Amino acid sequence: MPQADPVPLALPVPLPGPVDWAWLRYASLALDDLYDLLALRSAVFSVEQNCAYLDPDGVDRQCWHLLGRGAQGQLMAYLRGVDPGAKYAEASIGRVITAPVARGTGLGRQLVAEGLRRMDTTWPGVALRISAQAHLDRFYAGFGFAAVGGQYMEDNIPHIEMLRPAP
Ligand SMILES: CC(C)(COP(=O)(O)OP(=O)(O)OC[C@H]1O[C@@H](n2cnc3c(N)ncnc32)[C@H](O)[C@@H]1OP(=O)(O)O)[C@@H](O)C(=O)NCCC(=O)NCCS
Repeated sequence: MPQADPVPLALPVPLPGPVDWAWLRYASLALDDLYDLLALRSAVFSVEQNCAYLDPDGVDRQCWHLLGRGAQGQLMAYLRGVDPGAKYAEASIGRVITAPVARGTGLGRQLVAEGLRRMDTTWPGVALRISAQAHLDRFYAGFGFAAVGGQYMEDNIPHIEMLRPAP
């Protein structure tokens, strides 16, 4: 059976309907899950945003991975939930992505809400610290994150650290 296009850059018409979410520990990712999430991260951070860092940074092994797939199995949304102590003392989320075709449809908000719900269940009573692209500060503030400290440059993009206290 032909596999879905790993990175849905071209518009699948109509726009993706309901998204099917999977929350998987690194060791439980299928080969196609790993391929698709690395392809999407690479398409967005390396190609679209031209970030000069090694995306598979070794932290993935200490993460949960949230994959949102469309009706044809295409990966439409992704983030990773980082264990406390792996990146920060607190838990974290990162590599927050919606496929370019799905931007502005509300999927990003759905993705972060789903990710935080899963993190709160996986790590009850644990705070989250993130390094957010600065222009998204209001987006993350809507989920209870507050800026800590000032802006800094990371991968040539202004970033800000944000903290969400333990629920
Ligand atoms: C950030 C991202 C996940 C948002 O996904 P999305 O599907 O566009 O999000 P939604 O349609 O749910 O929009 C939610 C909110 O995101 C914010 N937002 C999205 N893109 C934005 C941008 N370029 N600048 C400022 N705010 C933006 C807005 O607050 C928007 O709310 P509004 O529609 O009420 O204005 C998506 O743009 C993306 O994948 N970007 C590339 C990867 C990236 O930069 N990730 C973030 C790393 S910190």
